[in-house]
Amino acid sequence: KIILGKDGDLKDKKFLITAGPTREPIDPVRFITNHSSGKMGYALAERAIHRGGEVILISGPTNLDPPLGLYKYIQVETAQEMFKAVMQHYPEVDVVIKAAAVADFSPKHFEAEKIKKHGFNMIIELKKNPDILQELGNKKQHQILVGFAAETTNAAANAQDKLIRKNLDFIILNDLTQEGAGFAKDTNIVKILYRDGRIEELPKMLKKDLADEILDRVFLYMEQYQK
Ligand code: CTP
Ligand code: CA
Repeated sequence: KIILGKDGDLKDKKFLITAGPTREPIDPVRFITNHSSGKMGYALAERAIHRGGEVILISGPTNLDPPLGLYKYIQVETAQEMFKAVMQHYPEVDVVIKAAAVADFSPKHFEAEKIKKHGFNMIIELKKNPDILQELGNKKQHQILVGFAAETTNAAANAQDKLIRKNLDFIILNDLTQEGAGFAKDTNIVKILYRDGRIEELPKMLKKDLADEILDRVFLYMEQYQK
């Protein structure tokens, strides 16, 4: 049974939270992105502030207002920009929660002029973006690292693999095939996977409440391992 952290329990803890999608430009009028709304990351930032945390929110483009009381609000567009901002602030924080849906690929070349619709087919060559969370895992020192995984097949196995490979402390699994889970909604259904192999199944709940559940676990983790 989890003991709920009281408001103020995260006092003076420094958080870096990423949220939203990234946007990878093709030409002056077009880009590649995904369905992330930013709601989960913004809810985490809001609750962490409420509980006394000092929060840096690094966000891709969303329609959301930043929560009041942020220590820093950094807006980025591309995965590369998010990578730079995250790495810059990594040394100074205690906890990183990577709720952002980072685009895995971006156009290899940015076309300075709008692409014309010549011909019937069109190929855009893509290159892989840096895996921000992987880099954080590789460079991890004192930080608690929390990741998300969005999966449609072999959900638990894929999430477990990301947890270990990216050197995370725990990972929040979004199984996108479940109703009430995933993008743009106000609710989510997740499982939380830990390094010792434990899997916790949470019921469907509001993202705001899920944010508190995640922060409760961060709090407990600090109590246990960072005395
Ligand atoms: N992530 C990241 N940088 C990337 C891609 C993903 O930091 N370039 C982070 C996300 O913020 C998330 C976690 O890695 O916390 C898992 O993202 P996900 O897309 O589920 O996994 P990937 O490792 O990108 O693998 P794939 O998309 O192939 O399943
Ligand atoms: Ca991905």
